[in-house]
Amino acid sequence: MNYFWMTVILLVTGASAVKIDVSVMEGDSVTLHTDVTKTQDNKVQWYYNGVRIAQITGDPNETCTDVQCNNEDNWRFRDRLHLDHQTGSLTITNITNTDSGFYNLQIIIFPGSSSSKKIFNVTVHGVSAADQEEMKRKSVKEGESVTLDPGVMKKTDDLMKWYFNDIPLNEISGNQSSICSDDECKERFRDRLKVNQTGSLIITNTRITDSGEYKLQIISSGFSITRRFSVNVSAVPDSGLSPAVVAGISAALVLLTVTGAAVVYYLRRPKDGKCYIRLI
Ligand SMILES: *[C@@H]1O[C@H](CO)[C@@H](O)[C@H](O)[C@H]1NC(C)=O
Ligand SMILES: *[C@@H]1O[C@H](CO)[C@@H](O)[C@H](O)[C@H]1NC(C)=O
Ligand SMILES: *[C@@H]1O[C@H](CO)[C@@H](O)[C@H](O)[C@H]1NC(C)=O
Ligand SMILES: *[C@@H]1O[C@H](CO)[C@@H](O)[C@H](O)[C@H]1NC(C)=O
Ligand SMILES: *[C@@H]1O[C@H](CO)[C@@H](O)[C@H](O)[C@H]1NC(C)=O
Ligand SMILES: *[C@@H]1O[C@H](CO)[C@@H](O)[C@H](O)[C@H]1NC(C)=O
Repeated sequence: MNYFWMTVILLVTGASAVKIDVSVMEGDSVTLHTDVTKTQDNKVQWYYNGVRIAQITGDPNETCTDVQCNNEDNWRFRDRLHLDHQTGSLTITNITNTDSGFYNLQIIIFPGSSSSKKIFNVTVHGVSAADQEEMKRKSVKEGESVTLDPGVMKKTDDLMKWYFNDIPLNEISGNQSSICSDDECKERFRDRLKVNQTGSLIITNTRITDSGEYKLQIISSGFSITRRFSVNVSAVPDSGLSPAVVAGISAALVLLTVTGAAVVYYLRRPKDGKCYIRLI
């Protein structure tokens, strides 16, 4: 099927269309950019494997997404398609395996009706529910560290931006990156954040108020990806004891257990001459 649509698309668009490879993970949101700043004088049309899935023009009556556009009882995307009314860029939320394929953009520019075309070759990488869970849902106890891994094959010039409830955590401009330069970020996290070279976000000495939704935005050439993570920091019951005392008590318990086992062993041995090790 992919080969078929590829042929159709190449026949329809000719060889001049810009081709962009998009690689995403199941569950991501992906935005395919038109790179026009206003749709007022343009007609923007999106096709998925040859079927029109979105259109925007200066006339609101002609704007449509998904089934409104193709009268084909084609509910593939349901409410997962969003058109930016300013730029015509298309966002597909919670993308699934079966959304892989060719997304074909056509922009007709009025007056004069010149047109430009792009083909986005979208590949959705499946992730098992268990792996998604492990990667995207982190539970830690207050005071522990937590690491959120981007989980991508990052292209070298992609930008990675982390957000906590829409507060930017890192800034990148040119080849400089800075961490927590935003005021709200400073107030919340101070110097407890780190983003390492491969883009992992590391929060040290976590607080309960660090719980919530974290968002990674990967900005590539022609498209961007949003991936969501959730962090749950739970309270440690307040024992009123310092960690050193807790460690001491644990050591004493271990000692007690070992001694207990030795006593059992000692008591039983004379009965039948065999060794019993009973752990209580
Ligand atoms: C849009 O459609 C409505 C109702 O069908 C119509 O009254 C209105 O004039 C249309 N607007 C344009 C700009 O065509
Ligand atoms: C994303 O899609 C999957 C299956 O396609 C569904 O189980 C899940 O609830 C969806 N998540 C959201 C946030 O819509
Ligand atoms: C689309 O992407 C897939 C996966 O990266 C690749 O195997 C395929 O060759 C690409 N197709 C085109 C026409 O570039
Ligand atoms: C960053 O960019 C500046 C110029 O914009 C350049 O002088 C500097 O060498 C670059 N640093 C790195 C690490 O690439
Ligand atoms: C960034 O941190 C992650 C998680 O700790 C680790 O797997 C990765 O190797 C680190 N990358 C670098 C460049 O240190
Ligand atoms: C957070 O973790 C705690 C302890 O594991 C659990 O009781 C609580 O339900 C979790 N909260 C959420 C919102 O997942």
